[in-house]
Amino acid sequence: MKRALKWLGSIAAVLVVLILTGLGTVYALTITRMDREYPTSVESVRIPADAASVAGGKHLVEAIGKCQACHGDNYAGKVVLAGGGFAHLTSANLTSGKGGIGGTYTDADYIRAMRHGVGRNGKTLFFMPAEAYYHFNNTDLGQIIAYLKTLPPADESVPRDRSIGPIARAVSLLTPFPLLSAPLVPVGEARPADVPPGPTREYGEYLSKPGGCTSCHGASLSGGNKIDNVVIAANLTPGGELGKWTEADFMKAIRTGVRPNGTVISAVMPWPYAKNMTDDETRALWLYIHGIPAKKLGEK
Ligand code: HEC
Ligand code: HEC
Repeated sequence: MKRALKWLGSIAAVLVVLILTGLGTVYALTITRMDREYPTSVESVRIPADAASVAGGKHLVEAIGKCQACHGDNYAGKVVLAGGGFAHLTSANLTSGKGGIGGTYTDADYIRAMRHGVGRNGKTLFFMPAEAYYHFNNTDLGQIIAYLKTLPPADESVPRDRSIGPIARAVSLLTPFPLLSAPLVPVGEARPADVPPGPTREYGEYLSKPGGCTSCHGASLSGGNKIDNVVIAANLTPGGELGKWTEADFMKAIRTGVRPNGTVISAVMPWPYAKNMTDDETRALWLYIHGIPAKKLGEK
């Protein structure tokens, strides 16, 4: 009996050491990645100030970038990850109200955050989808920043917080969970030339990147990734359900979140914001997606 207890004690001690070593490794690796310094210089982009450009920026923010999904309807910031012990992460107040970046952020600061996922301190932002926004062309990015500068001031709705627990850290090391923004940005990848907006395949292909379709549904749009650890992204290629859809089905799905079979698409798929796309934009995406090679779920 005594012997057995002694054995159990040793096993428990070994387990504790293993767990502590594991945790230590996870923290050491994530801290190194979180503290990495990135170059702070950015390419310059012309920021227009005319009313038409600001209106264009508003639409790009509301329908393509879908910034409100994470920054809140008044852009004053909100909690984006709240899982008991997993992580507690807030976004930022993008306005010039209390705790906001507007008013102090320079053009370069906006470009660095949006294109590189890097904050003013030269370190990575958390969970900010810069790998998608990297693909906004200069005209669109300029209009977006022009609009952000006109946001009415709103005081921050929640205090900034970036508490990332051990499980979230481990998950971020082992899966494509997009916790850290900067390492995901395809720095150096050619950015698209200005594609004339309109209901064309080319414009649909352009929108699919800054619009986040490829971030969640994968480069080949065949889906298969688990998003936010909750729902598997659907296969958008003609090899999946969409192969049987018509353009009208697609329009309805994006506008109302309802599939042709009547089921509702999870709001992890940001259709409540994507529905703000114009008919031309939605049509362009359909023309593009409908013409890509058929793949199985998750096929590269
Ligand atoms: C998936 C959620 C998500 C979306 C969508 C999103 N953001 Fe963010 N954003 C965040 C989070 C979270 C932070 C805070 C990151 C941090 O504190 O490390 C952030 C930070 C930022 C910052 C940097 C703030 C600072 O303090 O330096 C800017 C600028 C920004 N976002 C702009 C935008 C714009 C513009 C859009 C839309 C085009 C957008 N974001 C869409 C999650 C998001
Ligand atoms: C934040 C991640 C995310 C982004 C960004 C995103 N999607 Fe999705 N999408 C999903 C997920 C997850 C599902 C599966 C939802 C479900 O199973 O209920 C989905 C489902 C869909 C569906 C329904 C397909 C089916 O067979 O059920 C369509 C259509 C769709 N997405 C199109 C798009 C398009 C077009 C874009 C770009 C404008 C896009 N998505 C951007 C995550 C995303």
